Amino acid sequence: MFNLILFGPPGSGKGTQSEKLIARYGLKHLSTGDLLRSEISQQTPLGLEAKKIMDKGQLVPDEVVIGMISSALDGNPDAKGFLFDGFPRTDKQAEALDKLLDLKKTSIAVMLALNVSEEELVKRLVKRGETSGRSDDSNEGVIRARIAEYNSKTAAVAEYYKKFDKVVLVKGEGSVDDIFGGLCGEIDKRID
Ligand code: AP5
Ligand code: MG
Repeated sequence: MFNLILFGPPGSGKGTQSEKLIARYGLKHLSTGDLLRSEISQQTPLGLEAKKIMDKGQLVPDEVVIGMISSALDGNPDAKGFLFDGFPRTDKQAEALDKLLDLKKTSIAVMLALNVSEEELVKRLVKRGETSGRSDDSNEGVIRARIAEYNSKTAAVAEYYKKFDKVVLVKGEGSVDDIFGGLCGEIDKRID
């Protein structure tokens, strides 16, 4: 199995690059943001609670997303590997993920961290907000709150994986194809 975390702040291109990476490497894409938005569109109780938090640009509780990831891992017993996008976002989530993977006799191979300036992040998300219908893209205040939440709670997750020498910083600005090339170069060094 090959398990990868695609890491980076809101708007850094995790979703965009994940689509291309799963097509090339045959990994199962697990995005907690997408899983939460699916709960919202089905109007489940979990989705309705999560939406209130997401619309403020804050993180939903650890137990909620850890539960979702645990079910997704169990639901895909034949996966060649997993690409985690937007998860883990706290140290508690990282520790839980390590334990879940350990139970399956596997682990994280690498965390690829997309490096994008804050100015570029805001520009991309404001632009997407004009058409996406994602309510957390709808005003610059919420976009900046998401980035602040990333800086205060999520950025430190890279330190957690640095202890195990698993973090590689990748250029996240420029063309989508060039960034994809950078990511593939790092994966190809590590995958069988
Ligand atoms: P989530 O869905 O994970 O959103 P996010 O991290 O805020 O980031 P985005 O999905 O907006 O950006 P992205 O990095 O995927 O970039 P994208 O490819 O879309 O989380 C949403 C919310 O859910 C959180 O705020 C939180 O409330 C909750 N949540 C989710 N996971 C959680 C967890 N684990 N714990 C707790 N709460 C959680 O690209 C962005 C835009 O830029 C697009 O328009 C794209 O076309 C464009 N773009 C991409 N690449 C380029 C490029 N190279 N040049 C120019 N434009 C580009
Ligand atoms: Mg995304």
